[in-house]
Amino acid sequence: MPSIAWIGLGSIGEAICKNLAQHAPLEEPVMVWNRTVEKAERLAATSDKMEAAKSLADAVSRADIICLCLADDAAVSSVVDEAAQLSVSGKLFVDLSTVHPDTDQTQADKLQSIGATFIACPIFGGVALAIERQITLVLAGPSDALARFEPFTKDVICKDTIKLADQPLREAGMLKLVGNFVRFSAIEVLCEASVLSEKIGLPKETLAKFVGAMISGPSAGQLAMLHSGAYSDLTTNIAPISMALKENSYLNDLAERNGVKLRALDTVTAHAERVNEMRGSDAKLLAIYGSIREENGLPFENN
Ligand SMILES: NC(=O)c1ccc[n+]([C@@H]2O[C@H](COP(=O)([O-])OP(=O)(O)OC[C@H]3O[C@@H](n4cnc5c(N)ncnc54)[C@H](OP(=O)(O)O)[C@@H]3O)[C@@H](O)[C@H]2O)c1
Repeated sequence: MPSIAWIGLGSIGEAICKNLAQHAPLEEPVMVWNRTVEKAERLAATSDKMEAAKSLADAVSRADIICLCLADDAAVSSVVDEAAQLSVSGKLFVDLSTVHPDTDQTQADKLQSIGATFIACPIFGGVALAIERQITLVLAGPSDALARFEPFTKDVICKDTIKLADQPLREAGMLKLVGNFVRFSAIEVLCEASVLSEKIGLPKETLAKFVGAMISGPSAGQLAMLHSGAYSDLTTNIAPISMALKENSYLNDLAERNGVKLRALDTVTAHAERVNEMRGSDAKLLAIYGSIREENGLPFENN
């Protein structure tokens, strides 16, 4: 049974790491490391299935599989650069972070030149779904590397995987960005439909009946969060606006480089930028509802 290290204990990283430690068929504790080391020490103290590594080097050296769940491209690149100074031949790196599709290939090339393997593994679903092991992972990389990580995926940390075996690594990142575009645009439409309903006098409950009956998936829960006012609560598990802006900028770059105009993305980004400006980067993605309300003469808060 391979040994695993988990690097990055942010909101979703910690949730997935806990499930890995709890549910994976492992013989040794998961080695955990975080830039702010106290987070790793605090987490490891909660379970004998996790052990805080003394350093990033300690975590990487003692594991066969190293999972990364980090804020952005710069964080992934700096961690991989530090790991590449060590003896990593034969080790597998799995990147669950959301990065620009080109970034994963750069990391894979660095590691391949010193005998290690890298797979891209972006996450669909937020923290609440991660806690319940209901996220979906997109896996891209060599098929033998995907097979090495497979025992730690379905029913351990996620409900499902989309496997892109032996396909270019960047396809995982591309799918993540295109998928998010679909999700973010759906949220934009839901917010606009809610504002329209309020202005024309269609009761909330009536709109909710339509969403429940006709749009399966997360829309019903999102609409409930709009109607209850949870969209403006900074303490919920919903993805922060800073994350949406990061992902929109990657997608915008891909679209522009390929001569594609994404009008729906422009609209979501404008609302997200406004929320970021007015409410700060910790505001939640669903807070674009408040921005759309203001644009239409309603107060940001709905209660
Ligand atoms: N949260 C979600 O709903 C969600 C959903 C899907 C995908 N994702 C993606 O998953 C990744 C992690 O998300 P998250 O919610 O856990 O993010 P987060 O709460 O912001 O945590 C970011 C993590 O990255 C670490 N980090 C930042 N810069 C670093 C650096 N230069 N070197 C080393 N470590 C660094 C942070 O360490 P410190 O603790 O020291 O700051 C922290 O562990 C992101 O790429 C995100 O886009 C998130």
